[in-house]
Amino acid sequence: MNQVYLNGEYLPREEARISVEDRGFLLSDGVYEVTPAYSGRFFRIPHHQCRLAGGLEALRIAHPLDQMEEVHRQLLRRNGLEDEEVATVYYQVTRGVAPRSHHFPLDPVAPTIYATASAFKRPARSRWEEGYGAITVPDRRWSRADLKTISLLPNVLAQQAAAEAGVKDALMVREGVALEGAHNNVFFVFGEQVVTHPATQRILHGITRGYVLELAGKEGFQVVERPVQIEEVAEASEIFFTGTTTEIRPTVQVDGRPVGHGVVGPVTRHLYDAFLAGVPREVGLIPAGAPQG
Ligand code: PDD
Repeated sequence: MNQVYLNGEYLPREEARISVEDRGFLLSDGVYEVTPAYSGRFFRIPHHQCRLAGGLEALRIAHPLDQMEEVHRQLLRRNGLEDEEVATVYYQVTRGVAPRSHHFPLDPVAPTIYATASAFKRPARSRWEEGYGAITVPDRRWSRADLKTISLLPNVLAQQAAAEAGVKDALMVREGVALEGAHNNVFFVFGEQVVTHPATQRILHGITRGYVLELAGKEGFQVVERPVQIEEVAEASEIFFTGTTTEIRPTVQVDGRPVGHGVVGPVTRHLYDAFLAGVPREVGLIPAGAPQG
């Protein structure tokens, strides 16, 4: 039975209840995180915690995160996910329950905390090697895309457009710039350079993005953070998306046109191999000093 966390309690999902006056339900007034665990070990949980803390501060929701890591561990344990190759924990904080008003509740209310864990199925390598498609869509989000709020309607519509087009990813474009995916960041390869949008308010500062930037640097690629114009997308030799529920996903086609030669490229493959080898080290499954396998 699936156990979730709600406001200090662990309980079966079917028994979890929130009020119809929860401001998350009525107003999307909240923030969330999705943190991956590899064989029971969390990947960069302090980074996720730090991003969530930043979101809470921006929204002026007072919620201490000292329980967050313990809730994550408990959810893996209680759901038998500690040995799962990859699992994710979703952790959401809303402003709480109060009669509907746009302004904050006049009397302080306790935030609503909801968290749940699930297994994540990495695609078979043979499927990954075939690559995936993407479409471009207009980015209709507000001007603080760096905050991981639960207000995701533009992302939902973008991802639905991708699903209806029969592709995996939606590349969001704003003012002529290819920013990121509907739930992941995007990287482009131009010649020797690995390029991604800078960490501004226009994109979510993906934890995976940060890790892939580090990996690319370590692997000797030239890493550049700059806006990529939509016209440049056709000139990229490789494109890939990154994220907690994406890891590294190669894009071989955008809007029906092939990327580079229309097959998974060597830079993406190199970085994916480095990612698959690096993550077990990063989470402590392999001692940092152990020789490369
Ligand atoms: N999405 N960009 C957007 C818009 C995202 O929603 C996400 C994450 C990312 C990648 O961030 P990270 O590498 O920290 O997962 C980029 C999560 C997984 C989600 O909404 O389910």
